[in-house]
Amino acid sequence: MRRPLIAGNWKMNGTRDFARSLSGDLALKLSGAGAVGFDLLLCPPGPLLPVVVGAVAGSGIAVGGQDCHQAESGAHTGDVAAGLLKDMGCQFVILGHSERRADHGESDALVKAKAEAALAAGLVAVICVGETEAERDAGKAFDVVTGQLKASLPDAASAETVVIAYEPVWAIGTGRTPTVADVSEMHAALRAAVAQSVDAEAAGKMRILYGGSVKPGNAAELLAPEDVDGALVGGASLVSDDFWAIAQAAR
Ligand code: PGA
Repeated sequence: MRRPLIAGNWKMNGTRDFARSLSGDLALKLSGAGAVGFDLLLCPPGPLLPVVVGAVAGSGIAVGGQDCHQAESGAHTGDVAAGLLKDMGCQFVILGHSERRADHGESDALVKAKAEAALAAGLVAVICVGETEAERDAGKAFDVVTGQLKASLPDAASAETVVIAYEPVWAIGTGRTPTVADVSEMHAALRAAVAQSVDAEAAGKMRILYGGSVKPGNAAELLAPEDVDGALVGGASLVSDDFWAIAQAAR
């Protein structure tokens, strides 16, 4: 009942040629595949959005930003408004990625404010949460991650407006992944947290993605647990065949 979402986070990678070729190739793959059991989302760097939106037009592939500002508009040099992302053809925006939490000091409260702005603009917020290695070693992973989620969810969160991405910080870009049992347990805990913060219906329908070193070789295993509804893919989303293979592994 929850349709898997396979999302590519290109981070700060790519040029116009690269973006045209990668997204065009994925659009061709999807068009040629007939009916598939998953949704695809591409999140390129902001300046490449027009290229990607153009290349995937009519294919069913969704496009998203990697961040937005919490204000509707104004004097915020270098920032991007959610409304502009929407205007550019985005349906989604990634918020609270651990790289933004670390590089830009983004707090749960700020992520929540950004999520409110995203929803107001008509975007789906992909809210990222995840523990550091030290937090996991200290046995605090569940408290940290569910705490981040509860403090980052917008007030009007629903299964239609929010997607959650569980990304253990120590698994991002490292080639290391949690065990399938660890992923499964964390996703169940996140779903329970949504039931508490929103309601049971939203919890049942909300998509919870796993992210962190998802590759073609481990995707089937990581995507198998009941509460895993897709993947947020960094490095492997930059290679068309790899990203497509990961999507194929979605149930
Ligand atoms: P990775 O990144 O797949 O390269 O580990 C995932 C992410 O940060 O979203």
